[in-house]
Amino acid sequence: MELFLDNDDQRSLSTQLYDQIREAITDGRLPPGGRLQPSRGVAQGLAIARSTVTDAYARLTAEGYVEGRRGGGSIVVGHASSPPDLSEAPTALAPTAQAAAVRRYGVGLESHPRYDLTAGRVETRLFPLADWRRCTNRALTRLARDFGYYGDPAGSIELRRTLTHWLARSRGIATTADQIVVTHGASHATDVMARVLLRPGDVAAVEEPGYPPITSLLRFLGIEVVGVPVDEHGLVVDALPAAARLVHVTPSHQYPLGVVLSRQRRIALLRWAARRGAAVIEDDYDSEFRYQNRPLEPLHRLDRDGVVIYVGTFSKMLSPALRVGFAVVPPGLVPAITAIRQAVDAGPPPVTTHTLRAFIEEGHLDRHLRRARKVYADRYRTVRAAVASLSDSGFTPLPSQAGLHMTLQTPDTPDDKELNVRSTRHGLQLSSLRRTYQHSPPQAGIVLGFGAIPTPDIPDAIELLASLYR
Ligand SMILES: Cc1ncc(COP(=O)(O)O)c(C=O)c1O
Repeated sequence: MELFLDNDDQRSLSTQLYDQIREAITDGRLPPGGRLQPSRGVAQGLAIARSTVTDAYARLTAEGYVEGRRGGGSIVVGHASSPPDLSEAPTALAPTAQAAAVRRYGVGLESHPRYDLTAGRVETRLFPLADWRRCTNRALTRLARDFGYYGDPAGSIELRRTLTHWLARSRGIATTADQIVVTHGASHATDVMARVLLRPGDVAAVEEPGYPPITSLLRFLGIEVVGVPVDEHGLVVDALPAAARLVHVTPSHQYPLGVVLSRQRRIALLRWAARRGAAVIEDDYDSEFRYQNRPLEPLHRLDRDGVVIYVGTFSKMLSPALRVGFAVVPPGLVPAITAIRQAVDAGPPPVTTHTLRAFIEEGHLDRHLRRARKVYADRYRTVRAAVASLSDSGFTPLPSQAGLHMTLQTPDTPDDKELNVRSTRHGLQLSSLRRTYQHSPPQAGIVLGFGAIPTPDIPDAIELLASLYR
């Protein structure tokens, strides 16, 4: 424990030591059984006479806080009173109104309900832990001589090269390593792009309903966010606000409704953006898992004017705990992005980027995706069948051909709070569709995540869900 002495303090040096140690014992920082540092070392470290320290220790011993041990050393015996509640500690600081207005999205961390139908969850048991561990070990060995250095703010060049090959074969996207920026996920990629492209007061368009953290993030940056409706063809391009400098879309699998942005709308959106010099963020957060039809070409492939920023993430492909994603950006933006990255977070952790590179190069990602696709396809079909077999539930599943969630329109009751209470009581965890409306009157429904629920549990979970509405 660090001890501090102040020569201007009116208390003696010994009393200052005594007070600090006693406080640490009573508030639990020095727990019973802990050993006080030897008095000689403390005296040397603080450049004071050893007797100053032994006087303090003797007082603590006399008052029963510590006990001398034969052979030397003092052990804490005093019982810690309950630790102080620091949650209400006074502060002269306050968040800005913009920061205070941000609301968290989704349920609590690490909850493990009996039936987890939360949107966005993945099957943790599928994560190839042994392969990842081996790749981490190799990355650590390789990095050992570079441990004194920061990494590249855009992510290691080796990983970026690997990603160009992977993007070419999995998405048909032609790019170079120089155009890739590795981020802490898809949302972070949007954050970086908004910082580089927008000024406070600028207008950005997002899908309505959409992914709430994107609206929160942009508003927090002082951007005026306009929600643009989504119909059965995806984002309604004709409804885009003329002033928008940036459009955030999920063309492959709209979050949360699940629709695919039609080819006509893709072209219309690109024309619209090129005419206005607006950026389009193509957030491809979960299209790796497809169950029907061939995917449409990414917007990035159709873009002739360099307005699209393609954003990918490993959150659904592997695990959200890795915090890795990337953006494919027009080359002209790269210097500003890397400079900002360096100033804000110094770039992605080299240990992670080297691990991921080895993981992809050695074929583990492809192998994992093949396995995961089978499991998720099974869950997708089981959810559809379970919903279809319900009689008079009032649920309408919206067409969805990819990803790890499917949205159900539901009768207008019960409201979210009541639904939450009822579902939690039955061990069911859900995501409400209402929460994804940020700009217009919300529609009732469930964004039904099937990533984390074991296939055999799905029929019971869906039956339970329907019973909450009866
Ligand atoms: C549309 C959308 N974008 C981004 C994300 C978050 O991705 P990441 O964890 O990579 O930030 C999600 C998560 O579900 C999402 O639904």
